[in-house]
Amino acid sequence: MKGVLYYFSGTGNTKWAADIFKKYFNNNKVDLHLLNIEKIEEVKIKEFDFLIIGSSVYADIEPKIVDDFLKKFPKSTKKLKTIVYVTQGGKSSSAASIIAEKLKVKGYNVLIEESIKMPNNYYFLLNKEPNVNEYEKILTDAEDRVKKTVQNFIENNKLKRQNSFIRIKLGKLCGNSFRRVIPRISKNITVTSECTKCGLCLTNCPKSNITFEDGKPVFHSKCMLCLRCIYICPVNVVRYKGKKIEQIQKERVKGVIKCQ
Ligand SMILES: Cc1cc2nc3c(=O)[nH]c(=O)nc-3n(C[C@H](O)[C@H](O)[C@H](O)COP(=O)(O)O)c2cc1C
Repeated sequence: MKGVLYYFSGTGNTKWAADIFKKYFNNNKVDLHLLNIEKIEEVKIKEFDFLIIGSSVYADIEPKIVDDFLKKFPKSTKKLKTIVYVTQGGKSSSAASIIAEKLKVKGYNVLIEESIKMPNNYYFLLNKEPNVNEYEKILTDAEDRVKKTVQNFIENNKLKRQNSFIRIKLGKLCGNSFRRVIPRISKNITVTSECTKCGLCLTNCPKSNITFEDGKPVFHSKCMLCLRCIYICPVNVVRYKGKKIEQIQKERVKGVIKCQ
């Protein structure tokens, strides 16, 4: 058996979970290919026996980059078995159900919808301090959740954490309204004069939204607020509302960095 996992991960949490999926499938002698949707030109599903879609959560729904990717996703004629998982800072979200809806319309047999709690990379949205003491437990629980998901899938158990119709409706309302204000919110991201011009933010921005002008990174209007630039900066000089952010994703973001 051979599966494919397509993921989007702004700051490494969803990729971290993808690696754990791979580990547990491999432990069960099942091959799993991990593919970053930012780098995909052509989606290939024919050669695979099952599909996994992994995404982060922005305001209760999937980021638009995932939405756009799913729109181009081919139909499944053989009702390909599918797992949808999302990672978010809270306990639950509508995103897995919303992604599953989109895949079911295309003929996929979504057996599992999973919402995995991970460290909240946007902890500073409400001026909150990150609770780093919690992280070890969050990661252990997340790994356990992935392990159980793999087991359930292999045993052919249908496991859905169904969100109610109302929850999904509200999620879409909240997520779509949030998408409209992202260009405004993203103006909160700036860089200080201590920037070393290493270019990591520029080469790793999923929207190619950063350029160097007069020797300084300039953030344009296509930002999707994934926050990767904040967490990959080696000298931590990318600011949000002028504030220094504790780089809680520093280790995990390495999983999605092109060059270091
Ligand atoms: C713009 C934005 C919006 C977010 N909205 C939510 C949310 O509505 N609910 C939640 O639980 N977490 C939310 N988060 C936290 C992320 O979903 C979470 O940290 C996720 O694991 C990040 O995955 P990644 O590192 O793969 O990008 C948000 C993060 C960002 C950047």
